[in-house]
Amino acid sequence: MTTLPRLGINIDHIATVRNARGGEHPDPVAGAYAAIRAGADGITAHLREDRRHIRDEDMVRLQQLCESQDVPLNMEMAATEEMLAIALELKPKAICIVPERREERTTEGGLDVAAGHNHIAPIVRKLAEAGSRVSLFIEAVETQIKAAASTGASVVEFHTGAYAHALDDGDEKKAEVHLEAFVRSAKLADQLGLEVHFGHGLTFDNVGKVAAIPETMELNIGHFLIGEAIFLGLDEAIAEMRNVISEARAA
Ligand code: PXP
Repeated sequence: MTTLPRLGINIDHIATVRNARGGEHPDPVAGAYAAIRAGADGITAHLREDRRHIRDEDMVRLQQLCESQDVPLNMEMAATEEMLAIALELKPKAICIVPERREERTTEGGLDVAAGHNHIAPIVRKLAEAGSRVSLFIEAVETQIKAAASTGASVVEFHTGAYAHALDDGDEKKAEVHLEAFVRSAKLADQLGLEVHFGHGLTFDNVGKVAAIPETMELNIGHFLIGEAIFLGLDEAIAEMRNVISEARAA
């Protein structure tokens, strides 16, 4: 029996809609609860430095919710002292360290662990010692995978954004190059003892080949599912994503 990758639902963009009006609705924590009821294996939220969607108090409430539902909260954060202090206090089950630039619309590119090793490794160590499972969001490149392993992180999440863009642009050749890198990288990461996750820009149409990679243990998906929930409802959007993932895995 093949195990299916876990599906982590990123609820950031429920907060984006809330913040558009400055009030409390729609509440991303209520959205997280709905996602858990619909079968999410985990909840992911990115506390950005500029707090453009998720806020500090959301993280506290998300952690309470996830603990009460026995579902892991995966906090995405930049490798800064401020975020480290918040994460050490919050103690989420999982943390994914991501690169962050204020001017970007979303997380563009992976973390440069090879260049930032001496800054990132102590942060990974402190978070792991506090009991969180630490993941590094990287490109599917050998030097980054080896650097990630040397920080003591237990997980790598490969950035699927460029793969998704290539498919959107109809550039099958480029998409294939990305996919080959994912397959190679997943194998290498697994050999180095790293759990393999993928995320960013995944949709019903592009998730299949990534889900089919045997080492894939978790997929983190947000923007598309929250958008699709407008048309299908969150339950059906998540159920359909699960179907696509399990069909791809069975094929
Ligand atoms: N994984 C990571 C590390 C991310 O930074 C994001 C975006 O916040 C996602 C997954 C989800 O990406 P998307 O919202 O495009 O599905």
